[in-house]
Amino acid sequence: MLILGIETSCDETAVALYDIERGLIAHNLKSQIDLHAPYGGVVPEIASRDHLRCLMPLIKKILTDNDIKKPDVIAYTAGPGLIGALMVGSAIANGLALAWNCKVIPIHHMEGHLLAPMLEEEKPVYPFLALLVSGGHSLLVNVKAVGDYKILGTTLDDAVGEAFDKVAKLLDLGYPGGPKIAKLAEEGDPNAFKFPRPMQKKPGFDFSFSGLKTAVMLKTRELSEQEMLEQNKANIAASFQKAAIDSLIGRTLKAAREHNLSRIIVSGGVGANLMLRASLRDCFDGDVFYPRLELCTDNAAMIAVAASYRLSDQRNPGSVEAMARWPMEDINY
Ligand code: KG4
Ligand code: ZN
Repeated sequence: MLILGIETSCDETAVALYDIERGLIAHNLKSQIDLHAPYGGVVPEIASRDHLRCLMPLIKKILTDNDIKKPDVIAYTAGPGLIGALMVGSAIANGLALAWNCKVIPIHHMEGHLLAPMLEEEKPVYPFLALLVSGGHSLLVNVKAVGDYKILGTTLDDAVGEAFDKVAKLLDLGYPGGPKIAKLAEEGDPNAFKFPRPMQKKPGFDFSFSGLKTAVMLKTRELSEQEMLEQNKANIAASFQKAAIDSLIGRTLKAAREHNLSRIIVSGGVGANLMLRASLRDCFDGDVFYPRLELCTDNAAMIAVAASYRLSDQRNPGSVEAMARWPMEDINY
């Protein structure tokens, strides 16, 4: 059983082939970073137009490169995300499914991130705690099984990836900010500036990152142009990154402890942050699982593997779906 995965929820046009027996056959993507970089963030209409331009050629290439005529199933991201971008993926997936007479499965983008560690050799066993951290979400999910997701915490304001992107903009590092902050932070002192670790003393497991972002903004204003030269920029990047990671880890460890979970998975774009990965492994007694770096950020392999666990989902109406907002608990069995 061969699944073609399609992901177009934001600024990556991605395709993948996943075989139920053999696992991931191939995946490929075309990033739109160069198109959006001059604007300092994703421009939704540019994103939709580029998905339209690139998706069919990517599908054709992955099929011919792997000597495949047609898949048995098509899985596509139906939400949440940019509505125009989602509609391109949805329309092409449903059109091809009609032409090829194959099953089509709409997938929740965050379930894709959540199940991405299942693409690795060492798969987490249920139950586990999922820390899903991307440009749009910061979620802590108690995962008992596929389709048994209890959201323990979410962000009250900015997602953590969004905070990385905004701080990068303040420091004139360009877009997307996460990898740029991480790189610059390597040269800085994480203790140079004392930034807040919001929510640490609050009950529950929610996150908040806007206060941290504002603290960084105030610090950059306070420092003169002269003081904002390279070393201080690196110190700000390192101190911000440390504060953001401390916030994530504090809430995650608390959730694992209070819910008695001995396994944690981390996924989503910010899950590619090497300092987050190393710090969580150091601080947690149990097992920590991550997808490989390229499968942390948006990709279609995670959409295809998620569909492999949803093949017998009877509720799938097989209809054309595209939802900008889609609460994750709506996909529970
Ligand atoms: O999962 P993803 O590719 O797309 C969304 O679903 O949003 O996540 C993108 C986010 C961006 O905010 C980006 O800056 C952040 O992930 N990111 C990182 C790193 N790589 C990507 N943040 C921190 N450190 C990184 N190494
Ligand atoms: Zn994502």
